[in-house]
Amino acid sequence: MLSGLPFYYKPLATDENEGPPSPCKLRIIAIKKLLFQLLTIVAIGYASYLGTSAFLNSGFMGHVHRPGCPHRNFTALPNNYSLPSGDKIPSVALGVWQAGKGEVGAAVTTALKAGYRHIDGAWIYRNEEEVGQALKASGVPRDQLWLTSKLWNTFHAPEDIEPALDDTLAKLNTEYLDLYLIHWPVAFKKDSDNVLDEELTANPYQTWKKLEEMVDKGKVRNIGISNFNIARVKNLTANPLKYKPAINQVELNFWNPQPELLQWAKENDLLLESYSPLGSNKQVSESLAVPEVKKISRMLGLTPAQVILSWHVQRGTVVLPKSVTPSRIVENFKLVGLPQPLFDMLEKAATSHPPKRVVNPSEYWKLGFDVFDEEWPF
Ligand SMILES: NC(=O)c1ccc[n+]([C@@H]2O[C@H](COP(=O)([O-])OP(=O)(O)OC[C@H]3O[C@@H](n4cnc5c(N)ncnc54)[C@H](OP(=O)(O)O)[C@@H]3O)[C@@H](O)[C@H]2O)c1
Repeated sequence: MLSGLPFYYKPLATDENEGPPSPCKLRIIAIKKLLFQLLTIVAIGYASYLGTSAFLNSGFMGHVHRPGCPHRNFTALPNNYSLPSGDKIPSVALGVWQAGKGEVGAAVTTALKAGYRHIDGAWIYRNEEEVGQALKASGVPRDQLWLTSKLWNTFHAPEDIEPALDDTLAKLNTEYLDLYLIHWPVAFKKDSDNVLDEELTANPYQTWKKLEEMVDKGKVRNIGISNFNIARVKNLTANPLKYKPAINQVELNFWNPQPELLQWAKENDLLLESYSPLGSNKQVSESLAVPEVKKISRMLGLTPAQVILSWHVQRGTVVLPKSVTPSRIVENFKLVGLPQPLFDMLEKAATSHPPKRVVNPSEYWKLGFDVFDEEWPF
């Protein structure tokens, strides 16, 4: 009657000849029972591992190796994007805003060793000299690097642009920039402390014409804009431009994913760069704790930061994570294509809550209006 049951279900005493089991026999039976349970757990675990691997390696994941994880296949993300000039901009950069003196050089060195070739900087970050020293010491040939810098708000007047650019070039130890951006669609009066220059702000074409001249002089290979909303972009591109903006660098992250701007930029052939992609230092912890991010991270064996940064590139943007922590710098460069259902899940989660900006200096600058509004007072 009991023969179909596992051995440890055998009754302890089945006939009169067997007396009650000794304590030693009881211990042996308990050990056997434990061993059987352990074997069952291991078998179930192994079977689900095989099942998950088969799922992850199935057709929908594509056939490109994820760096550092050779037994799995993931879809590829673009390593670079083509710009109107024909140049190819690497899809991942090391951002160096708030990378302090004494740490930014080491961060650049670590990044170059990890494979980064794109550094996103700006004159106002006040660390270009140390970045330049690290670039020089690296020995990486200049033509293999992509260097971006940004024109600060006090230098929008045509006569101030070339000296500002020359200062950046000298600090970075380079003869040219791959990309020079108008940092904000806001001009300040020369040498002022954030005093708005309404005329230059209302009409960015004067600034742009000088930037075009810098391209023709060979000091800059591509020019673009940053923090421009659709109305600001149109305000610039309504002019007879010789070179259209190659890039718009804007805040894009889980909290402020800007799907309309992204869609419009794609339709108008304007590549976006995602700044503060992890939510900047203010929101990074919250970003990494988003339930959908954690779920995808567990399913794919990626870190939460890798999930978010991969999502940015999969949306078709250049991503600019900043870190001065060596392990994070390395981690942030290993990105993969997310399976479409998981990408869609994250996109939906990011676009289903009211957007919240992390970076907005309008009040700090006492502009009297919001720099991200569609309509301005002048
Ligand atoms: N055009 C503009 O107006 C503008 C504005 C803002 C930013 N940007 C550009 O975008 C870049 C990035 O933006 P951001 O610096 O604001 O923010 P971010 O890259 O979203 O976040 C940086 C923060 O995340 C942390 N972090 C980085 N990788 C991590 C990881 N794998 N795990 C956990 N924490 C991680 C960093 O810490 P540690 O450094 O301590 O590792 C730092 O606190 C800037 O550096 C700049 O180049 C441009």
